Amino acid sequence: MKKGITVITAVGIAAVACAQVNVIPMPQKVIEGEGRLECAGELPAIEETVDPAIPPEGYRLSVSGAGVKVSASDKAGFYYARVTLRQLKTGGAIPYVEIEDAPRFKWRGAHWDDCRHFLGKEALKRTLDAMAFHKLNTLHWHLTEDQGWRIEIKKYPELTKRGAVRPSSPKRAKDRKPDDETLGSYWATDKTPYGPYFYTQDDIREIVSYAAERNITVVPEIELPGHARAAIAAYPYLGCSGAQIEPWWHWGVSDTIFCGGDDRVVKFLEDVLDEVCELFPGPYIHIGGDEAPKSEWKKCAKCQARIKALGLAGEEGLQGWMTDHFTGYLAKKGKRAVGWDEVLDGNPGKGTVIMSWRGPGGGINAAARGNDAVMTPVDPCYLDNPQGIAGDDHEYINYGFVDTLERCYKFNPTAGINAEQSHHILGAQANNWTEYTFDAKDCEWKMWPRLSALAECFWTNLERKDYASFLERIASLRSRLTDEFGLNCAPLR
Ligand code: ACM
Ligand code: ZN
Repeated sequence: MKKGITVITAVGIAAVACAQVNVIPMPQKVIEGEGRLECAGELPAIEETVDPAIPPEGYRLSVSGAGVKVSASDKAGFYYARVTLRQLKTGGAIPYVEIEDAPRFKWRGAHWDDCRHFLGKEALKRTLDAMAFHKLNTLHWHLTEDQGWRIEIKKYPELTKRGAVRPSSPKRAKDRKPDDETLGSYWATDKTPYGPYFYTQDDIREIVSYAAERNITVVPEIELPGHARAAIAAYPYLGCSGAQIEPWWHWGVSDTIFCGGDDRVVKFLEDVLDEVCELFPGPYIHIGGDEAPKSEWKKCAKCQARIKALGLAGEEGLQGWMTDHFTGYLAKKGKRAVGWDEVLDGNPGKGTVIMSWRGPGGGINAAARGNDAVMTPVDPCYLDNPQGIAGDDHEYINYGFVDTLERCYKFNPTAGINAEQSHHILGAQANNWTEYTFDAKDCEWKMWPRLSALAECFWTNLERKDYASFLERIASLRSRLTDEFGLNCAPLR
């Protein structure tokens, strides 16, 4: 798969400048040599040299008759050189090559929703293995929702006693009958309790360290003020009305959210974040902020009193106050808060990292006002969108997008960002929400190989991307994902 100009190097090896190699994501600079290094075992011995001039997570790799040499400035760089070698190795040999590589973005994420359907530790570990093989370095772990609270918090045991089980779930489309009891136009209950499903703190530590061994930082998400019904079911005082509710059995956006005016809610969330910060050593904690209707806040005396006392700009100002409060609380613990792009409506301080999901606009606005951002626009970064594969009978969300492999591949996280502000784009992420994703196999089908395409968007500079080349490379990588990693990958088209 040679591309570019053939040159003769100083050592007289016929080589190709700016070549492509059978690696995903494509490295930034490649010179192919002629010949192959035989290696019977997993990988040959590697001569490692620390070179502080190499950028974070980057590496320089040489494979020749003299063996394998790697330079890097950090542990991640040495790790990624090995990943590249594992991808290059076929049939007991590694082709001679010189590579200089470093990521385009520092946040290269995938998101995992254990709340709507609980996918479990083994599936997550499989995904972490595959993520590391694509040089993805961030797992955004969605752990709290209307439909289930999935993380053990020692100080609040009811969260997992009451909040980790919902009374039933919506039926799958294929199981719905015309005379089913319905909600709106198409939900019907399966009348089967779901749960309790949650991760103990030991489970969490196990996943965090499994991820760290693979250069993956875990960013937990504790949603506030919306998507909070499971927590309110466990502790009714957390809601504006104080009424006893249950975790939601169906999908959607709930009007019942954390009360923004009650100090006990602030204390509860601080206590939860204290335990979360202990469990997750990484620099970021996601505090949600999306889809928080204000109808209950409008009627709540406590919420209205806080708006008045602090002179806030109405209910959006109250959410802004919460965002700033918890961003500040986390900052005192050395952590950065991340929020979905709705938090911009509350005019938060510069410390909050904005995750742009409703399109690129949130990220563009964030960068313009001086906030860092992560790009994860619903089109093409939501892998619960249909993928346009003929005969695919998996259930998908209906946002009106079809995100084919090619559409994912063509994504550019900085499209529309003013060049002087592009340093605010920390990177990008693929999300897979699990309302219509029922188990791990279903989830993997939606993730792979589209996440392979997005991984290249997150790592490789634009001028090094080439869809025809990607299609050749993904054909062999896809077989490895199924055979070596045990993933249930979708076909290529
Ligand atoms: C989201 O998809 N509600 C962030
Ligand atoms: Zn309230």
